[in-house]
Amino acid sequence: MKVRNILLTGASGKIGIAALPKLARAGYSVRALEFEEPVEAKGLKGVEVVHGDLRDPALAPEILRDVDTVIHLANVKENRELFMRTNVEGTFRLLDACRECGHIQQYIQAGSDARAGIYYYPQPIPIDETHRHSGYPGYYPLSKILEETLCEQFAIQYDFPITVLRFSWVHDEDDILAHVTLKEPNFGVPIWKDWAVKPEQKKFFENDLDGVAKLVHPGGKPGIRQIVGIKDVVESIMLSVGNPAAVGEAFNVSGPSPFSYDVLADYVSKKLDLPVVDFEVGEYHDFSISMTKSASVLGLHPQYDIFRIVDDAVAFRKAGGKRTSCKYIG
Ligand SMILES: NC(=O)c1ccc[n+]([C@@H]2O[C@H](COP(=O)([O-])OP(=O)(O)OC[C@H]3O[C@@H](n4cnc5c(N)ncnc54)[C@H](O)[C@@H]3O)[C@@H](O)[C@H]2O)c1
Repeated sequence: MKVRNILLTGASGKIGIAALPKLARAGYSVRALEFEEPVEAKGLKGVEVVHGDLRDPALAPEILRDVDTVIHLANVKENRELFMRTNVEGTFRLLDACRECGHIQQYIQAGSDARAGIYYYPQPIPIDETHRHSGYPGYYPLSKILEETLCEQFAIQYDFPITVLRFSWVHDEDDILAHVTLKEPNFGVPIWKDWAVKPEQKKFFENDLDGVAKLVHPGGKPGIRQIVGIKDVVESIMLSVGNPAAVGEAFNVSGPSPFSYDVLADYVSKKLDLPVVDFEVGEYHDFSISMTKSASVLGLHPQYDIFRIVDDAVAFRKAGGKRTSCKYIG
């Protein structure tokens, strides 16, 4: 499979911002779809920025001209008003135009571990690619499952060359510190303030003090989960593009191993000199993600464990980095 011209949707989103320079520097010609936020392509060779809305039926045939590979990252998150037209109909229109044009060698769809329900349900440990779709309540997981289902059916009905990359919760900049410390900004769930019921928890929010949250189950056992660093996400895309072994397959894309909230809290507490505060979360189920298939088929060996993700986040803050605003904190 010889890849030359790539269409990248969602090029100004969290993953797109990181993937675009890697694709351009690898020598691909990239048509980057810009929607509301500008695409940053200054200094990148071979990047053409085109503006468009995936809800526009005329868009897909137009932006697929001369393209042989599609990387579809664009979507809206947890948005009741927009998700059907943007994510589901937008993905359908893109797939359908790809099939009609006849020159697409590979279509890579951004999937999500949300499709497996992660902490919402008791899970097999680890969750592998064969686990059934079982989204947690919300429009976002529903949308990821509907997008994947469209892809699965296009593969079955038309033998269309699809790769699905099911990303875990993606961490960049100081995301992990925004998540695990008590002071705003908040990132992801749980929002610790909402779980503060005991006086020793409430005092942090009442007095604007910072601390590090340790998520525990009733009884005190720390919660376990798995996330992924942005560079490992980009690596999964790079390893999939033009890879015949990736065609017709879905892959988990997560960090090298799960982490436990006590280990995370202790590490961040030492790094930032903050106290650890226990938060008992009743409806939390431990989960981990199998990376066996991604390792054996794609050769993906994630480099960013929880310590490295924290180290990078601390370095980002020390260097005075400003968080990129995100519409949905996850
Ligand atoms: N960020 C994560 O933690 C995470 C985890 C798992 C899966 N994913 C998936 O990866 C993909 C990319 O995620 P992200 O975090 O970079 O998303 P993001 O929200 O940062 O970016 C989404 C992009 O979609 C574009 N977009 C929105 N509506 C559009 C429309 N109508 N027409 C054209 N473009 C439109 C936006 O301009 C933006 O560039 C998504 O499919 C997402 O579900 C993300």
